[in-house]
Amino acid sequence: MFNTGVSTYLCLFFACCFCCSRAMPTKLSNEAVNDRSVIGVLTQVVTDEIMKPFGRTYIPSSYVKYIESGGSRVMPIRLTLTTSEYENIFRKINGLIFIGGAADLETSDFARVAKIFYRLALAANDAGDYFPIWGTCMGMQLLTVLVAGENLLTKTPAENLALPLNLTTEAQSSRMFNSFPDELINALTQEPLTGNFHHYGITVKDFQENEMLQSFFTILSTNIAKNGAHFVSTFEGKRYPFYGVQWHPEVNRFQWYRKANFPHSRHAVQLSSELAEFFVNEARRSLHHFDSPAEEESSLIYNYSPVYVANITTYEQIYFF
Ligand SMILES: *[C@@H]1O[C@H](CO)[C@@H](O)[C@H](O)[C@H]1NC(C)=O
Ligand SMILES: *[C@@H]1O[C@H](CO)[C@@H](O)[C@H](O)[C@H]1NC(C)=O
Repeated sequence: MFNTGVSTYLCLFFACCFCCSRAMPTKLSNEAVNDRSVIGVLTQVVTDEIMKPFGRTYIPSSYVKYIESGGSRVMPIRLTLTTSEYENIFRKINGLIFIGGAADLETSDFARVAKIFYRLALAANDAGDYFPIWGTCMGMQLLTVLVAGENLLTKTPAENLALPLNLTTEAQSSRMFNSFPDELINALTQEPLTGNFHHYGITVKDFQENEMLQSFFTILSTNIAKNGAHFVSTFEGKRYPFYGVQWHPEVNRFQWYRKANFPHSRHAVQLSSELAEFFVNEARRSLHHFDSPAEEESSLIYNYSPVYVANITTYEQIYFF
């Protein structure tokens, strides 16, 4: 009996090792895991007259719900702090999302603050302190400006256009799509699951001709704009856990304006869920933390209430700061 027991144990042991070593480097499975992550979101300056009575800066609730649905929490980050205050915040949060909107990507406060965090994240990752960044739409465009050191965006109009993704061969071995079931990958390439709301973007040609971008990011998908331009729609960092989507995964589950082509199909919802969970898993690898529970509690978005704005904007709810 003893012998049988031992051989069964060994068998399982080897089977386990075999399976784990195929799925991911063994190093990862030994890393500490942070199941109480907090993700920073930079606020946007209110420019719309009709929104001005509510506050100076805002974050649409859809991005907040997106992060919360992935199993994390949001800390809103204002654009008016000092560099040392941002350095302090960086030591507490576990990831950062640059959201969509409309800001100058070189001269605005949004760009200034993003650059501070981008540099901190580069240095942290270089030192083995894992820190993921995600850019959606304008946030992705901002990542191209930060990495290239110049604005290479051109007109790639795709306003209110839902599209399937034209996945590159590299997408198959990407981190972003790694855990997607085959059925979802197929749907992603066949069905219009990605909502586009942009005028500008980076063309595949401009991306490939820029040495900084080409060596920093791997293109995971491309699409054709209304003017025929072939633009980069998804990328991920080669060495850094930085991700960009020119489309809006959060609208699939959290925005309902009738005149907008927000994809709400079963696969569209699944896509949005998978990516939210993917990014929160990335944030689990960051062990940054607040100095105390009280400091954490007072920093989170739960201290604010979203405002109903469906009668005056294309959003249902917005947080104002
Ligand atoms: C898909 O990508 C390939 C290679 O990047 C490109 O040649 C093709 O034109 C693209 N097609 C569409 C519909 O985007
Ligand atoms: C929009 O709805 C809110 C909440 O019901 C209301 O207070 C506000 O007056 C409405 N605004 C307009 C312009 O209709």
